[in-house]
Amino acid sequence: MAGLCFDMYGTLCDTSSVRDRLGAELDISDRLVAAVDETWRRKQLQYSYQSAQMNEYEPFWELTARALDYALAAYDLDPAVTVRDRIRSAYDHLAPFPEAAATLDRLSDAGHEVVVLSNGNPEMLSRLASNAGLRAHLDDVVSADGVRTFKPDPAVYAHAAETLDRPIEECRLVSANAWDVAGAGNAGMATTWINRHRDPPETIGATPDTRVSALPAVADGLR
Ligand code: LAC
Repeated sequence: MAGLCFDMYGTLCDTSSVRDRLGAELDISDRLVAAVDETWRRKQLQYSYQSAQMNEYEPFWELTARALDYALAAYDLDPAVTVRDRIRSAYDHLAPFPEAAATLDRLSDAGHEVVVLSNGNPEMLSRLASNAGLRAHLDDVVSADGVRTFKPDPAVYAHAAETLDRPIEECRLVSANAWDVAGAGNAGMATTWINRHRDPPETIGATPDTRVSALPAVADGLR
């Protein structure tokens, strides 16, 4: 039995569920909402990589705000700070993928240790895990904040293995983020890539051990 480390944003919870909040707060077209959302998420990830590379750690919650400011500026949108705060708080209320809780339960029932391993800081992860109804289905929530850097820095995957008190080879990252899978494989973890959108594989980093197209298939393959 393994220690299964699930990525949170984009894997257990759907980051595009911020779109409802963006639309309601900014009163803009669906097309513009999609563009702001796409830029916001891309910048959020880019800022996490940059911050790790520059040794300028800031919690993911702060980087999420900085990325939102960038995305709004990119589309000439300038809402008040209170509106920006309300938009960011959509990250506390992301929709879980419908099959997330049942998949975690099946894996726990099969004897695996099931945790989240995320770049989110502990406070934002705790709010989301509770609001999304996932906390009771997890053995633990492990944050990159424990080592003040971000995935795909190998230190984060090593931190997870240490927290689970298992050799890293006995831990498996399950993520829909291909860059995360590549990083976990490089750090020595087993990996499962959930490729929901039929993306091509990454051309740098480790190749995934297992590829599936949706969460339930993770449980089918790891009985
Ligand atoms: C996570 C995001 C970055 O670590 O996907 O949960």
